[in-house]
Amino acid sequence: MSADFPPTSANTNADELIRFDKVTKRFGKNTVLDDLCFSVRPGKHVTLIGPSGSGKTTILRLLMTLVRPDEGTITVSGDQLFPAGPKEVREIRKNIGMVFQQFNLFPNMSVLRNVTEAPVRVLGLSRDEAEARGRELLDLVGLGDRCEAKPAQLSGGQQQRVAIARALAMRPRILLLDEVTSALDPELVAGVLDVLRDIARTTDITMLCVTHEMNFARDISDEVLMFDSGTVIESGPPERIFSAPEHERTREFLGAIL
Ligand SMILES: Nc1ncnc2c1ncn2[C@@H]1O[C@H](COP(=O)(O)OP(=O)(O)OP(=O)(O)O)[C@@H](O)[C@H]1O
Ligand SMILES: [Mg+2]
Repeated sequence: MSADFPPTSANTNADELIRFDKVTKRFGKNTVLDDLCFSVRPGKHVTLIGPSGSGKTTILRLLMTLVRPDEGTITVSGDQLFPAGPKEVREIRKNIGMVFQQFNLFPNMSVLRNVTEAPVRVLGLSRDEAEARGRELLDLVGLGDRCEAKPAQLSGGQQQRVAIARALAMRPRILLLDEVTSALDPELVAGVLDVLRDIARTTDITMLCVTHEMNFARDISDEVLMFDSGTVIESGPPERIFSAPEHERTREFLGAIL
């Protein structure tokens, strides 16, 4: 199988943290990603937009190694994700945090414990170290006073902020965000987006973000990628994509959601 793939690092550039090179992903007869190429440089904030079913979540799931591509290569820091052994995948995955639409907190654990569990188990931090860092992160997301609460005692927006703190607790170089506000009541959206704006402004974490919040995307993105039919049909800085899209499909899409 490895013969199908070029050697690790063959097509990578030191400037690229994430690279998709001619990636094709099919589910049965449905070609979801078609010869997809794009890359993300370290510290950049890239937003993926596009119609439902265009493959945005699939891209994030590929990076999390939850699904594998049929063709092409995906590299993170020059390390190829497929094929890679379980140990290499674990090392690569340590660099990547993900926050989903559904927060998936552990319901029986306190907020603080939700944030400290993986650093203790996976990174090998002492419980004290993990708790000190966990409290800092919960402060950062505005929940320093809710450490002992259980997730069910928090609002959806608060739970999502815990999920963000939990992802940051693993000290990821890359943060993947998949429509993190779309399950929230409208009045809770702003608080979560403010936290993400802060993270974008104050850390050097590379962000790959799927969102329908175009004002947020405009604020934080260095680049916006418009997807359709399994590929990037248009990309550029948010000011241009949102105010002067070149592609008819982008105009239609933005017209429908703005
Ligand atoms: N595990 C799976 N098995 C079969 N088909 C799948 C699977 N996951 C995704 N798909 C299909 O792949 C396509 C792309 O799905 P994906 O979730 O990546 O789209 P999306 O751009 O994130 O859409 P949305 O904006 O609705 O979240 C869809 O047609 C979907 O039905
Ligand atoms: Mg999706």
